[in-house]
Amino acid sequence: MLGASGYAGRELCALIQRHPALQLSFATANEQRGQTVHAAGRPVTFVATEDAPLGDAELVFSSLPHGASREWVDAARAAGARVVDLSADLRPGNGREGVPYGLPELTRSEVRGAAVVANPGCYPTSVLLALAPLIERDLVAEGSAMIANSASGVTGAGNTPKREYLFGEVAEDYRAYGVGNTHRHLKEMRATLERLGSTADLVFTPHLLPVTRGILSSITVELKAPLGDAMEPWRQRFAGEPFIEVVGAPPRLRDVAYRNAVQLHALPLTGTARPMLLVFSAIDNLVKGAAGQAIQNANLMLELDETAGLL
Ligand SMILES: NC(=O)c1ccc[n+]([C@@H]2O[C@H](COP(=O)([O-])OP(=O)(O)OC[C@H]3O[C@@H](n4cnc5c(N)ncnc54)[C@H](OP(=O)(O)O)[C@@H]3O)[C@@H](O)[C@H]2O)c1
Repeated sequence: MLGASGYAGRELCALIQRHPALQLSFATANEQRGQTVHAAGRPVTFVATEDAPLGDAELVFSSLPHGASREWVDAARAAGARVVDLSADLRPGNGREGVPYGLPELTRSEVRGAAVVANPGCYPTSVLLALAPLIERDLVAEGSAMIANSASGVTGAGNTPKREYLFGEVAEDYRAYGVGNTHRHLKEMRATLERLGSTADLVFTPHLLPVTRGILSSITVELKAPLGDAMEPWRQRFAGEPFIEVVGAPPRLRDVAYRNAVQLHALPLTGTARPMLLVFSAIDNLVKGAAGQAIQNANLMLELDETAGLL
């Protein structure tokens, strides 16, 4: 495990420790190297990245920052390991195309048995699973814009100290950031939506929510025609998916916290001239948005039960 001392990395260490078929072979840190922490009740001592015995692992998770991850993914591959990269470095739209994108509910057949997988970003997981059923069935109005407002808990920013994430800056406040359609996750979302056949624009505005974990996305979509049953596209598309829950009311973060789950809900908007839907999607950014999804991908790559260690 590379980048094990970060928020996503620590979550992943705990999931590995509890997994019935995986063992943590090593855990790296940069500034936190040498420290011992507890993951799922067991001690983990962080080693320097350069000292990681990459060849000892059948599969390496890289939870390094984007930009720093790519070279270590290549090093792990050269040492013979499969790799799940949690950073943005290998994701679609980020300059290294052809690597399977690990959003199993949309790309399962590409992930199964793969040597390298790009684990999706937290916001893209939330937005793409909400939009895919509409796009795949060509239900979105031509020339329209899909407008996604997403709010994330502060662990989404990682645990490297930054002034803007101090308690005094975040608590009892709520603000947008990355405004004007500039957030770096847009590349990955656009590339994936285009691949699904979307021609609509995507407008994405992230917000910082003063909770530790969770992302709630509220997405407005204009349809070609009204739907008789607003939730039917999700119920039909995700029937039998172990980690997708199509729910009867707008989801709450507490219903997905600490779980590898996505809760989805949709309803028609009233009072609009054209038919519009409001779609809600809730995930835990550190689980389905990062470490849990990484385990889901690893299970598929290693041909284990996809749900192993996650239910
Ligand atoms: N947080 C989330 O919700 C989330 C969700 C999806 C994906 N991700 C992705 O997962 C990755 C990790 O995110 P995070 O939030 O866990 O970040 P983080 O808390 O800042 O952790 C980053 C990790 O990388 C290590 N590191 C930093 N710079 C390094 C370098 N130059 N060389 C080697 N190791 C270095 C850090 O070690 P030290 O702390 O010891 O310095 C730490 O272990 C990122 O690529 C992020 O985009 C995060």
